[in-house]
Amino acid sequence: MKLAIASDHGGYALKEAMKKHLKSQNIAFVDCGTDSEDSCDYPDFAEKACRLVQQGEADFGVLICGTGIGMSITANKMNGIRAALCGETFSAHFTRAHNDANVLCMGARVTGAGLAEMILDEFLNTPFEGGRHQRRIDKIAEIERREHHV
Ligand code: RB5
Repeated sequence: MKLAIASDHGGYALKEAMKKHLKSQNIAFVDCGTDSEDSCDYPDFAEKACRLVQQGEADFGVLICGTGIGMSITANKMNGIRAALCGETFSAHFTRAHNDANVLCMGARVTGAGLAEMILDEFLNTPFEGGRHQRRIDKIAEIERREHHV
């Protein structure tokens, strides 16, 4: 499994904590920035990480900003990205099981590092259930095609 992880300045410290957690589990990742707590714009980093997911160079994306909201709004503009903002493990479980989410967003000013680790683990360890949920994912993709004319 390979991840693409990114944050803005607001999410930088939590991104570094999540990288440490991933390393401890030998989970590979590409760090798409940012590299400090200097002010920057979250769409730039969301796009970089989601591009790797789109291109199949990463299985999942992990995006962190202050609230997680800017990252999730940006990520969900991109074709084929299903980004879920999670602040607890129940949503992390079911967004994988039912929505086949391929990007996890978290808010560093909302969620502490300990809970964020649990959310990340739940997200990565839960498979998509398919079945009736695949039909709904297909409908999302159809809306995306109509919307973007792709
Ligand atoms: C940056 O101050 C903050 O707006 C950003 O991290 C994020 O919360 C946006 O959604």
